[in-house]
Amino acid sequence: MSRPPFADWLSQTNDVTSTFLAAGQIPGLINLAGGLPDPSAWPVTELAELAQEAVRDFPAESLAYGPVPGQPRLRDAIAARFSTDALPLTRDNVLVTTGGTQALAALGLALVMTGQTIAVQTPAYLGALDTWRARGPDYRPMVLEDADFDPVAAMTGAQFAYTVPNFSNPSGRLVGTDQRRALIDAARRTGTWLVEDDPYGALYYDGAPLPSMLEMAGTDSPVIYLGTVSKELAPGLRIGWAIAAPEMIAALSAAKQGTDMFSSGLCQMVTALAFERGLPEAIRPHILSMYRARRDALCEALETHLSDWFTWEKPEGGMFVWARARDGRLNTDALMRAGLTEGVCISPSSVFDPEHRDHGGMRLNFTLNPPDELEEGIRRLARTTRAVLRDAA
Ligand SMILES: Cc1ncc(COP(=O)(O)O)c(C=O)c1O
Repeated sequence: MSRPPFADWLSQTNDVTSTFLAAGQIPGLINLAGGLPDPSAWPVTELAELAQEAVRDFPAESLAYGPVPGQPRLRDAIAARFSTDALPLTRDNVLVTTGGTQALAALGLALVMTGQTIAVQTPAYLGALDTWRARGPDYRPMVLEDADFDPVAAMTGAQFAYTVPNFSNPSGRLVGTDQRRALIDAARRTGTWLVEDDPYGALYYDGAPLPSMLEMAGTDSPVIYLGTVSKELAPGLRIGWAIAAPEMIAALSAAKQGTDMFSSGLCQMVTALAFERGLPEAIRPHILSMYRARRDALCEALETHLSDWFTWEKPEGGMFVWARARDGRLNTDALMRAGLTEGVCISPSSVFDPEHRDHGGMRLNFTLNPPDELEEGIRRLARTTRAVLRDAA
């Protein structure tokens, strides 16, 4: 008996992503592929207390169905967190989402129909591409570091432009203030929306944080800012948010309504209490010093073991080092597969290319593993690289 076929977009996925996602389960494997925080960074005791308080003292907010755009108390806390003198925000500027991922998916639902264009900072965040796949968009890559990158040309006719200015996933790149300004100006001139996805904004290891495009653009802004508690508190809370003009928040809220109706009331209350009491700020110094040391350890190990074969830049924040192969014959899809038998996993560049054509790079995560494991992982990767190049010769 034949059954109805699956929707067309399912055939456009590939097994590279599922292979490296599944690799986390292999015993003894050193996982450099994911984008995971270290579990020791989670404020377990504090969150347990807040969860108990939320259920006990706020049962209606925590356990009943709630308003689609989010619990007013959390929307207010988010508005307060991101307001400045020049940019007073209210809850009407805020949508609470189920992780930042749902905000990305809602953008696709609210703004994109088949064949329409999304301008995407490239290499691009794989998870964002996944959320938009079923919408059937055309992608216009934006390589912000190219000397001849023209933001107006890139944004003209696009439904929105997607950027991760703070330590992009996967490239770890920090977009400077001048380029942030140029992106805002281009969005204004072309009339498109400018998405600022910012999960790594709290993870600056060296310098002072740059102003967000949300803040720089002020009122009457083309910016849609996306945030999440995943890297600042814990990803299992699945709480994120969008901040934008009220008309955009209303459209995203309509998209969310048809997806999950509303985000977990319990997790919203826990997040509201955590924000009101400054929990992310209290745990940040520990997280920053742990991740800074790990970034340094990974970069040292790369220098020692992999510099003959790869180039990279030390990122000033975030969770990733982006490395490019010196030798065009080194295919990082092959490196990823071969690494699994050597006990190490990386994310190959093909998954961050909307057209899957880039096989010359890899993303390495440094936040999940302690320094000695990072060094051992890079040693295994050096062995794997030598073997893959031998086979390619
Ligand atoms: C660039 C970027 N955006 C959004 C997210 C979404 O995170 P979450 O859905 O956990 O909030 C991530 C997670 O890794 C990310 O790297």
